Parts: sequence; structure tokens; C-alpha cells
Amino acid sequence: MDWKIPLFKIYWDKEDIKAVEKIIRRGTFWATGPEINKFEEKIAEFSERKYCVSFNSGTSALHSILLAHNVTSGEVIVPSFTFISTSNSVVLAGAKPVFAEVESKTFGLDIEDVKKRINKKTKVIMPIHYGGMCCRDIKALKEIAEDKKILLIEDAAESIGSKIGNMKAGTFGDAAMFSFCQNKIITTGEGGAIVTNSKEIYEKLKLIRSHGRVETKIDDYFSTTKEMKYTEVGYNFRMPTMSAALCISQLNKIDNIIKMRKEKAEYYNNKLKQLKEVFLPIENEKQKHVYQMYSLKFDKKTDRNSIQEKLSEKGIMTKVYFYPVHLKKYYKKNFGYNKGDMSKTEELSEKVLTLPLYPQISKEEQEYVANNIIEYFNKR
Ligand SMILES: Cc1ncc(COP(=O)(O)O)c(C=O)c1O
Repeated sequence: MDWKIPLFKIYWDKEDIKAVEKIIRRGTFWATGPEINKFEEKIAEFSERKYCVSFNSGTSALHSILLAHNVTSGEVIVPSFTFISTSNSVVLAGAKPVFAEVESKTFGLDIEDVKKRINKKTKVIMPIHYGGMCCRDIKALKEIAEDKKILLIEDAAESIGSKIGNMKAGTFGDAAMFSFCQNKIITTGEGGAIVTNSKEIYEKLKLIRSHGRVETKIDDYFSTTKEMKYTEVGYNFRMPTMSAALCISQLNKIDNIIKMRKEKAEYYNNKLKQLKEVFLPIENEKQKHVYQMYSLKFDKKTDRNSIQEKLSEKGIMTKVYFYPVHLKKYYKKNFGYNKGDMSKTEELSEKVLTLPLYPQISKEEQEYVANNIIEYFNKR
């Protein structure tokens, strides 16, 4: 459908075109060019971790980080209030996803529910940082993981650049994943990365990513005449060089992108704070939100679907992030989940709605979105 106001638009400029054009014109190293290492160094530096490994998606990155930590059996605690990739990656690695509830403020994992679900088989807690904000209880989750001697892996797909205090998303756990899919803060169309402080995990990730092949910065497969060493079995989960070059260019403007997203979010906040039926995204001096999404939560009496319908009629695209993953066919069939199993998640999912937000959205467009929501409540 051709929306008057789409949910998101990619922010790009001439520098992005130049960066990709340079690689194309070079006519070689489209697969494993020097921009890959440069991009990884820059993401590691930005996220304040020692190592970064790039991937062709956030999903292949999550799958690989579980394999790198030998999580091929046992249980991994994940939210059901997430994109399905979080739990799919656990299944793909060979372990069992165990869904836990989320709290209602930042939609992060609920620590009391997590504690109840930990047992001898639990190997990992894998929270997400929802829509551009660190989950509120990430430090408590870290303490629980340390106490129980299990891993904490952050699915930070949506939240590069967000912070709690002076700690960035991606620095709390044993490792973290960022996604560069097209609706993220910075994007390469498709892409992902893992950051970690562990050299051992870094080396394992490189093997998993590329056929189990031992490669160095000098001796890459496409430049050498020598026979290569293959020490493991691996995938081809590599990010192409054009994407890495594009991501370097996108990363150069990340502060400006976040600043613009914040301004747009503040505009919505100011317009919509008059509605007592609406809970706005949380931001305070501790919580630095980067607004990958601008999601509202409505009170119990509000019929979210009828608001979404009204906005659709007006040409405004909105979306529900997220429908509960435990109620998707595969999880019901294979893990026996049913409606009613996770009441908090199910209730929350009926009350959230994500509005259009992107750096270049105009005041008129935002006003049109906000006025339609206000009108909906005034007319009831
Ligand atoms: C919370 C979460 N986890 C995982 C992913 C998967 O990332 P990708 O789409 O890059 O595979 C996404 C991306 O949409 C996400 O939002």
C-alpha cells in the first residue's frame, strides 16, 4: 500500500552513495574487502567493546553467538514480547527457548519471572532492548546471571546508541547483537554484528561466519594462492563489503540521526501528553532512548485495533510491535504454549502501537498523525 505517512524512512545522504560507489568502481573485494575490518573496528569502538564481528543479518549473528558459546542444548530464557528472531535463533542453535514475561515500563524482561524459570538446564538469559531503549532491569539481570553462573547475551538489535547512566546497550552482557536491517537506527539494508570482550569468542565467531576457515587480515581466501586451513564446520554468514562501507558512512552520522529522532519523539510527547488514556515512551535522566521506534501503550479500556484502523483509513501506517511469539504456530506446536500462558505479555501486546517516526518526518506529518489520535479520543 502507498501510505501517506509510512512507518519509517531510511535516512541516507550523498556520502552513503559515494561509499558504496567506491567499492563498486573498485571492481574487486566486494566479498571480503578492507572495509569489513574497518567497520568492525568502528562498531567495537562505538559500542565500547574490544571485538566486533559483522554478519549478513542480526539473526545469523544471534545464531552464531549461541553456537560460539556452545549453547547447542539446554534452555535459554527469552521474552515472548520480541521479534521472532530472538527465539528462532535459540531453536536454530539447538537449544530450547523458555519464554518469560516483561515489565510494563520499558518492556524488558521481568526479573521475578526470569528467576522462576531458571533451573539446572538454563544456560543463557537473552533480554532485548525494546525499540531504542535499554531494558530497565538489565543490571539486575546481569547480577542474576552472574550469581547463577549463566550467560547474559543482549539482543540489542533495535538499540544501538541507547544508554542507562553512562553504560551503553551492548556493554552489560557477555556479548551483544546489533541489527542493521532497514528500519534500524543505522542500516545497510540487511546486516548485523556481535560485540564482545572475549578474544576466544571473537575467534570462534569468525570461524562460524565463514565456513570454519582460518583467515587473517592479510591472508584472506580471495587474495591468497595458498591452501587454507578449515578447522570447524561453518556457514557463510558474511556481510558484503558494500554493506560494510555503507555502515561506516551511516555510523559517521549516528549522533545526528539520534538527535533528530529524539526531537521528533519530543514533538509527539508534547502533543499526546494531554491524553490520559495514553502512556508515552519512558525517558529520564538515567534512560537514554534513541527512538528506533515510538511506541504508545493504551489503557485497559482503549480498543487499540480501532485506533489502528482509523489511522490506516487516513493513510497513516502504524504497526504492532510485538505480537506474542509463544502464540505463533511453531511454538504452540513444538513447545506446547497456549493462549493464557503469559497473561502480562498477551495483555501488553493488545495495547501497544508504534507510530511513524524517522529523522526526516515533517512537523505537518507529525501533527497529522497526532491530531488523528487526539480526535479519536475526543470523539468517543
Ligand atoms: C529484537 C530483535 N531481535 C532480532 C532481530 C533480527 O535482526 P535481523 O532482522 O537483522 O535479522 C530484530 C530485527 O528486526 C529485532 O528487532
